[in-house]
Amino acid sequence: MTRLSVNINKIALLRNARGRNFPDVRAFAERCLAFGAQGITLHPRPDQRHARYDDVAVLKSLCVERSAELNVEGYPSSEFMAEVLEQRPHQCTLVPDAPGQITSDHGWNLRAEEALLRATCEKLREAGVRVSLFVDYDNVDIARAREFGADRVELYTEPYAEAHDSGNNATMIEKFREAAGRATKAGLGVNAGHDLNLRNLADLLSAIPAIEEVSIGHALIVESLEFGLEEVIWRYLGEIKRAAQ
Ligand code: PXP
Repeated sequence: MTRLSVNINKIALLRNARGRNFPDVRAFAERCLAFGAQGITLHPRPDQRHARYDDVAVLKSLCVERSAELNVEGYPSSEFMAEVLEQRPHQCTLVPDAPGQITSDHGWNLRAEEALLRATCEKLREAGVRVSLFVDYDNVDIARAREFGADRVELYTEPYAEAHDSGNNATMIEKFREAAGRATKAGLGVNAGHDLNLRNLADLLSAIPAIEEVSIGHALIVESLEFGLEEVIWRYLGEIKRAAQ
């Protein structure tokens, strides 16, 4: 069944707003795991405006203690790679973010970035870190990710979320299904993330049961403001189970 990895960047953003360790991202992540999430995702960006590089070590030790998975996402800058290679999270998702970008808004160009991705996948795999590449659903080159040494791809789901909001997502779901099919045919696992929420998750997962992990942050934190963290995680796990039936 699909695993839920909670992206806790928004908690880090709140912490950084005041300069003290409040809210404490470790304590928050610990509660997510206690309430049933199977993993934690952290996405340190170059300006460290929310997640910081030093959060990686703290969350790695928590995830090891709790037998959960840590997924660290980001652009493979030298600073990012140094932290990831030292801490060896369970999974590293490479994302083609430009510095200062508000949020991830596209996947890799697997032709133009071949040299960087091949070299980075190799380093991560040598360190025993599972590698996932963030890709767009309409990328016809998805299978190349396997040739570069990636284990998985993460499908960028904002276009799906937008289509779902418009109430007309049948065509888009089909395109995501095809993308997932291209990935699995090439021997890649499939993750998904961005703009997933309690309303759109089950439709995606019931159409594409092969999705191994979803990483969800923004909506989950907003929904928690309304319903509380425990209730929201419980609802996400319920949606995942419902989709699997
Ligand atoms: N996947 C990637 C690569 C991301 O950059 C993000 C946002 O940090 C997410 C998933 C989670 O997106 P959201 O916060 O919209 O759930």
